[in-house]
Amino acid sequence: MRMPLLQIESLVAGYGKSDVLDDISFALFAGSLAYVLGPHGAGKTTLFMAIAGLVRPKRGVIRLDGEDTRRKRPTELLARGIAYVPHNRLLFSSLSVRDNLLAGVWRDTDRPRIEAQADRLVQRFPFLKACGHQSASRLTNGERQLLAIARALMSEPRLLLLDDPFDALAPAEAEQVAGLGAELASDGTAVVIAQRNATPAACLGEQAYLLDQGRLCRSEASVASSWPGVPVSS
Ligand SMILES: Nc1ncnc2c1ncn2[C@@H]1O[C@H](COP(=O)(O)OP(=O)(O)OP(=O)(O)O)[C@@H](O)[C@H]1O
Ligand SMILES: [Mg+2]
Repeated sequence: MRMPLLQIESLVAGYGKSDVLDDISFALFAGSLAYVLGPHGAGKTTLFMAIAGLVRPKRGVIRLDGEDTRRKRPTELLARGIAYVPHNRLLFSSLSVRDNLLAGVWRDTDRPRIEAQADRLVQRFPFLKACGHQSASRLTNGERQLLAIARALMSEPRLLLLDDPFDALAPAEAEQVAGLGAELASDGTAVVIAQRNATPAACLGEQAYLLDQGRLCRSEASVASSWPGVPVSS
């Protein structure tokens, strides 16, 4: 039987004494695209941070390739293929676009290999070439999001967690980012996208989950598309 890339069982996690995630179970296979939809404060970011090792589970298990990740540091999990793109993108505004890209592999010291990987990503995202020497602060929101994803791809992740990637994006930019997520999944990466509101993009997900007050349930696309929030446009 094929093993899930990521398997979460009965996860409880939160901050201090307060639990945010309540008994979450979730499995994801390589090459799949999943959406986690939920309102403000539902626990989407906390879930991603738990998967990336930035929040310690209080109970339950998180496995990557069947291996318990709970005692692993975020840097180890990154090296094993988990890349997290935070909702505010966290680019280095004072650095050039190219240097932001190179920052995606801060542990690797093989400069020629890093540059070659950056060149491959520049082929994939042509705007990176056009503005490679510009400061990242001059990019549009859509370009900033694409750069944040490209930076995460520098480490060649197997699991990519995109937190609220459509925030402040124009519709065409959001479609581009959603299309990229689907393309990466079809190339074999497992992609999870967290967002507050369903958009047409959410309906493309092979899997959609609703997260509310820390509880996760699987949803059919038709339910996801009627998730409250910004009305779904066609
Ligand atoms: N560092 C923290 N310390 C304490 N509580 C936190 C911390 N970060 C988040 N919380 C709380 O955890 C709960 C879940 O927050 P979280 O950011 O995971 O939700 P979210 O679904 O990502 O929300 P949003 O849509 O606003 O991004 C909220 O009640 C929030 O106030
Ligand atoms: Mg969040």
